Amino acid sequence: MRHLLEIDDLTVDELHHVLALARRSTPPQVLAGKGMALVFEKPSLRTRNSMELAVFQLGGHPVYIQGSEVGLDTRESVEDVTKTLAGFHAAIGARVYEHNKVERMAAVDRVPIINLLSDAAHPMQALADALTIVEEFGSVEGTTVAYVGDSNNVTRSLGLAVGMLGGEFRIASPTDYSFGEDDLARVRSTGGVVRTFTDPHEAVTGADVVYSDVFTSMGQEAEAEQRLNDLADYQINANLMESAGDAVFLHCLPAHRGEEVTDDVVDSPASRVWRLAENRMHAARGYLAFALDETGTRVRGS
Ligand code: CP
Ligand code: NVA
Repeated sequence: MRHLLEIDDLTVDELHHVLALARRSTPPQVLAGKGMALVFEKPSLRTRNSMELAVFQLGGHPVYIQGSEVGLDTRESVEDVTKTLAGFHAAIGARVYEHNKVERMAAVDRVPIINLLSDAAHPMQALADALTIVEEFGSVEGTTVAYVGDSNNVTRSLGLAVGMLGGEFRIASPTDYSFGEDDLARVRSTGGVVRTFTDPHEAVTGADVVYSDVFTSMGQEAEAEQRLNDLADYQINANLMESAGDAVFLHCLPAHRGEEVTDDVVDSPASRVWRLAENRMHAARGYLAFALDETGTRVRGS
């Protein structure tokens, strides 16, 4: 049973294979006549649309389910919801507050579970990030990706993906908002290089990609004011992009313009944010084609 709770649930070879499948123009109909449940406890624009379209392109039928409607652990336990959905669907994607909920879904082990963002990880975003970097530079290997701001779910999955694919990952943040020792060790266990900085200018110097995410993630709204103050020096603006030279700019979106990034950067020629957003769909299709391939045939390098 193939679950994707974090990007390093894939081997490096499998990650390369998924990226190759994402670039294929004829989607295999691995979901023909089948459904995929998409459970969202939090809002979404990109993840919902990209997953629904990817399922459709693979011949399947996506069913969007609002978390409040099923009430994970309030109306019904996570396990009972998972077992019920597994009777209808070939796979379940879930966006949850606590990472533990997708772990419990995976423990049921009836159908593949895909983490569509938890407080700990956002692997489907990392796939699209990697795809966009490959399109831009030919490969992730040899590139330097500088993430500036709060180290969060997006940062963890991105750092792992960059490490797995042979790039250098840098994080610029105040010490309290940086990666913990466990996060650093996990990226290093992939063989990847990860470096932490407190000076954002130093971090982006020589980088190929400058990456940003919101300072306040979904579920952290009560800390918003504190976070805005603490992270104010980590805004990506024209001045910081000057230190980055000819780097491209990426943001998982939604962007809080004027907070972690300024309009002139999001809308600059260096910005690849819309390409990245579209790549969410191609990456999702590539991953589902891989995970739901019933023949077990893995076509490498295709
Ligand atoms: N990047 C991302 O996951 O966007 P949504 O929250 O809109 O799905
Ligand atoms: N870190 C953000 C990512 C949104 C796609 C959040 O969790 O809200």
